[in-house]
Amino acid sequence: MTDDPYISLLASIQWLTAESPQPNPTERDWLMECGSMTRRLERHCRRISVRRGWEGLVTADESGDELALLPASERYWLREVVLYGDDAPWLAGRMVIPESMLNGPEYALTTLGDMPLGRWLFRDGIPARDYIQLGRTGSLWARRSCLRPNGKPLLLTELFLPDAPLYG
Ligand code: PHB
Repeated sequence: MTDDPYISLLASIQWLTAESPQPNPTERDWLMECGSMTRRLERHCRRISVRRGWEGLVTADESGDELALLPASERYWLREVVLYGDDAPWLAGRMVIPESMLNGPEYALTTLGDMPLGRWLFRDGIPARDYIQLGRTGSLWARRSCLRPNGKPLLLTELFLPDAPLYG
């Protein structure tokens, strides 16, 4: 959906199995963060900024393998971004939410613009999260989670790019 080289890496993530190499304790601590990742990253730079890649409605066939993890829908809202810490690319993010969930307060998910998703998601505390699945592409770590603001499922994949503070 995009030619951004960082966002393209999201498609090559392999999800970990019991036999896979595991993250070290520092990496694990970052990957298992249940609070806002934006807020955590902010402690390591002066300014966090978002560069949007693709954002909009897609049909089920245009979305990735994560659809199996969400309720079936004809269309999904897809948002792909790169999060920068000062001028360094730190994280590639991809959010997928069934179109049918974009009513009520969740409609705001389509109007985030350059505001990091976490500012909306964590505005009143920590939303329910079903799981954190860990993954890898090359030597980079990734995770994905199903979050449930107001009970509505949202799948969020985050890939930590080489300059991210997670790598020490
Ligand atoms: C986003 O704005 O879409 C976003 C921000 C931070 C993340 C993931 C996604 O960690």
